[in-house]
Amino acid sequence: MSLPPPAPDRTALVTGASSGIGTEIALELARRGHGVTLVARRENELEFVAAEARAFGVRAEVLPADLADRDARAGLWDRVAELGLEVGILVNNAGLSTMGPVHRSEPGAEMRMLEVDVVAVADLCSRFLPAMVRRRRGAVLNVASTAAFQPLPGQAGYGGSKAFVLSYTRAMAGEVRGTGVTVTALCPGPVQTGFEDAMGVNHDDSTDSLPAFMWESADAVARCGIDALERGNTVAIPGLANRALANVSNLLPKSLLVPLLAMRHPGLRD
Ligand SMILES: NC(=O)c1ccc[n+]([C@@H]2O[C@H](COP(=O)([O-])OP(=O)(O)OC[C@H]3O[C@@H](n4cnc5c(N)ncnc54)[C@H](OP(=O)(O)O)[C@@H]3O)[C@@H](O)[C@H]2O)c1
Repeated sequence: MSLPPPAPDRTALVTGASSGIGTEIALELARRGHGVTLVARRENELEFVAAEARAFGVRAEVLPADLADRDARAGLWDRVAELGLEVGILVNNAGLSTMGPVHRSEPGAEMRMLEVDVVAVADLCSRFLPAMVRRRRGAVLNVASTAAFQPLPGQAGYGGSKAFVLSYTRAMAGEVRGTGVTVTALCPGPVQTGFEDAMGVNHDDSTDSLPAFMWESADAVARCGIDALERGNTVAIPGLANRALANVSNLLPKSLLVPLLAMRHPGLRD
């Protein structure tokens, strides 16, 4: 297994490339010689990342889009085709979380999260995967989380979304076996990015609730994901501690684990 080799008319479409893990994935792909097409809402930030990518000698362009908007998602295929490009690598990285218990949630915010974290992933896979399979060449990296391995009280919708992404990606990997297409779920533990700000959490609260040994840098997470995609691994969990904890979470009875997680979650403190 390997990534489709770079070519002038071939691109890596990276969602959520305007900050954090998505920026690092885009730059790591550019460093490895792949042209990149960057998607997110904030055009200025995307342009900065595109300029950094071009410094590696590849082409890079930006396609601003709100992935919570179904029409905007549907338009991406044509916008890429108008650039004369085919998507050889698709990275579904854009994501966000709400915070707090479901009984205090705001329905609009919950729906927007599900549109980006769940529906957009399925939407873009179902739009771009068929051509990859026809060409017998392509790669899809879906960014899940270690939140996928157990229910997450305090971020119930987010944990459920990431469990969807993990299960969906594992199933797709089974479907495309032998087609020349590789599919990987990247499951990071905590990473210092714009994620906490977007969630409205202060950094001290989240560092207090999660031990220092679990935190990984965004660039290490990006390298781990792209290496796994290149090797054809179905699931990648960056960091030894996160891999061990994901295994423990799988084994522990949820009746024990969920109350423990609820006690420590900053979103459930009064
Ligand atoms: N940070 C962590 O601890 C952590 C841990 C595990 C998994 N993850 C996952 O990693 C992925 C990247 O998160 P991050 O940590 O890098 O957070 P981040 O810095 O907040 O980046 C999130 C990205 O998603 C984009 N995005 C959000 N809503 C969007 C929308 N409606 N339309 C288009 N783009 C949208 C943002 O761009 P715009 O605001 O410009 O639209 C931004 O580029 C997410 O899927 C997240 O769930 C993060």
